[in-house]
Amino acid sequence: QKLEMELDSIEKGGYEHFMLKEIFEQPKSILDSMRGRLELEAGHLNMGGVRAFEQKFMNAHRIIIVACGTSWHAGLVAEYLIEDLARIPVEVEYASEFRYRNPVLSERDIVIAISQSGETADTLAALELAKSKGATIFGICNVVGSSIARATDAGAYTHAGPEIGVASTKAFTAQVTVLTILAMIVGHRRGTLSDVKLRELMVELYTIPQKVEKALELDTEIQQIAEIFKDATNFLYLGRGYNFPVALEGALKLKEISYIHAEGYPAAEMKHGPIALIDENMPVVVIATRDSSYEKIVSNIQEVKARKGRIIAVVSEGDTTIPPMAEFVVEVPHTSEVLMPLVSVVPLQLLSYHIAVLRGCNVDQPRNLAKSVTVE
Ligand code: G6P
Repeated sequence: QKLEMELDSIEKGGYEHFMLKEIFEQPKSILDSMRGRLELEAGHLNMGGVRAFEQKFMNAHRIIIVACGTSWHAGLVAEYLIEDLARIPVEVEYASEFRYRNPVLSERDIVIAISQSGETADTLAALELAKSKGATIFGICNVVGSSIARATDAGAYTHAGPEIGVASTKAFTAQVTVLTILAMIVGHRRGTLSDVKLRELMVELYTIPQKVEKALELDTEIQQIAEIFKDATNFLYLGRGYNFPVALEGALKLKEISYIHAEGYPAAEMKHGPIALIDENMPVVVIATRDSSYEKIVSNIQEVKARKGRIIAVVSEGDTTIPPMAEFVVEVPHTSEVLMPLVSVVPLQLLSYHIAVLRGCNVDQPRNLAKSVTVE
């Protein structure tokens, strides 16, 4: 028994839970997912799977992303990335819906399946269906040799290393890293991303592991916020643009491990429903980093404040507009809006982790959930 306990603590590398260890591994797992792909000095990007299907990407009419859970959120980030940088229309689908919908597909479509485990039954079935209709299948998996990885025509692995905590953290940022590189390569080849812009983004992407490291320093601060909100029964998460999928992911993390009801919403949709829920007891996490929708989200914060919602704002370092409006402010390092999800998701992961720990929940193995869902 003692030996078992010791082994367990060695595996956790001194952290109390796998989830916390994995959150803190992100600077490394992001770097590992860029390694060999982002060559800053030589000035080029390289991804074997994309090179093999270069013509397909050049001629693609549409990219359809299929995934479940957190991987689906990474897919949503990719929708913004690919449409922005490569100007190919993207649709993001829940694999479980897509597979039963008689979807319209052609040989000019590329289907990207995203899966940490590579074993999710719905995602596998969705890609088999797409394959049968002649689409090209590109996989983004973390587990080498997994069923989904084997069923694809080409792909790119995330190099996040084994993820043990049921709630996905480092796999998400690794997926977003790989998808970012993919969008940059395809955009550059298609001529929608200029040499200059590509270079700028490469330099910026290279700094992300350090910025994530910096965001992890918020841990103690976030623990204090968690103390204050640990007994909440509801949470709302709001974001716009690239931070909209981050809001969804923040809410999912909280639900999964702390069992607090949470909803993620695009901030402007709030007025079509969720705003009715806001009162002095409602914690509202707003991801409001400096980007092209900044002014808009500032007005959304005002709308929450006018209804006495308790605002926890994630902002860019040095922001002076939002702090007077929010009850709590968490400052993350600034980066290009295209890359922001990699940084802005970190405080949300930490917040859900600390709330779950304070509530005495089983963080690594939450009730009713499985790490990989191999049944539909
Ligand atoms: C399960 C896990 C989630 C994960 C989802 C998709 O629900 O608990 O953390 O996001 O499956 O898994 P995949 O392995 O396909 O990424």
